[in-house]
Amino acid sequence: PTVAVIAGGRNSEHDVSLASAAGIRRALSDDYDVLDVRIGRDGSWNIGGHRALGAAEAVAEIGRADVAFPALHGVNGEDGTIAGFLETIGIPYVGSGVVASALAMDKRATKLVAESVGVRTARAYSIDDVRRSAPFPVIVKPVTGGSSHGVSIASSIADVHSAIAAAQPGDDVLIEELIVGREVDVAVLEEADGALSVAPALEIPRTPGSVFDVAGKYGGDPGFLVPAPLSPEELRCVSEAATTIFRALGCRGLARVDFFLDDRGFVFNEVNAMPGMTEHSQVPAMVAAAGMSYADFVRSLVEVARR
Ligand code: DAL
Ligand code: MG
Repeated sequence: PTVAVIAGGRNSEHDVSLASAAGIRRALSDDYDVLDVRIGRDGSWNIGGHRALGAAEAVAEIGRADVAFPALHGVNGEDGTIAGFLETIGIPYVGSGVVASALAMDKRATKLVAESVGVRTARAYSIDDVRRSAPFPVIVKPVTGGSSHGVSIASSIADVHSAIAAAQPGDDVLIEELIVGREVDVAVLEEADGALSVAPALEIPRTPGSVFDVAGKYGGDPGFLVPAPLSPEELRCVSEAATTIFRALGCRGLARVDFFLDDRGFVFNEVNAMPGMTEHSQVPAMVAAAGMSYADFVRSLVEVARR
């Protein structure tokens, strides 16, 4: 069978996507014909080498595949646009559909869904709230950002204004209370029979109150703790919150659901409908802790998508 591995994209996570896709292609190359599909930063299509294709040719080429693995992070990809494209041309694909992907990309929408199913989230402030009650420090994030691009901590109203200016151009921002606590990620996986499983949770060791930022994410070994050192009760609690959110959003295939743990318990942070998928990224590290190799994991995602 042929798998179209789609990478790149018109967004700030372009290079992260290329890294995810490189691992995925290697993992699949023994058992599948891999069609290497790249979307340029300018939106151009490159398939199977160096040909820059028009959209119509790209559709014809991708339409030959049996299944697609959209290894895209961020807007113009992970936000449901690639899912809609693949739905329209009738190719099964790894991961969530249009609605779940779009909701997961929008941090404000995801928060509303999480709150609606009783999961605690960080308190959000409007700019007027910030002026009125000065609840510093606050964290300012692009609503549809990824890989922590454009995220900053603000300790004054002047900081908030510069944080908004520094966030992704054209994006809306979310201002939230800064949760000071541990950072715990959960991988929720859909099995071939549709049942959900949760891999051992992962903790990102860092200084409380700091941001696991671009340098921490991609600047060297972040020293993930997996399985995260949690009590059985904490583990039960965070796993249940993660699967509840996965179901409430209507995710498919896989998602990484990220939390903070402070002295009052877990606080939902965000969902990644297509989390980082290099061999050293969080989800593959969690799956490895459950005893499954990276290659077997990537193949299983493709097989679940094809069924
Ligand atoms: N948005 C990046 C790829 C991640 O969540 O891993
Ligand atoms: Mg993210």
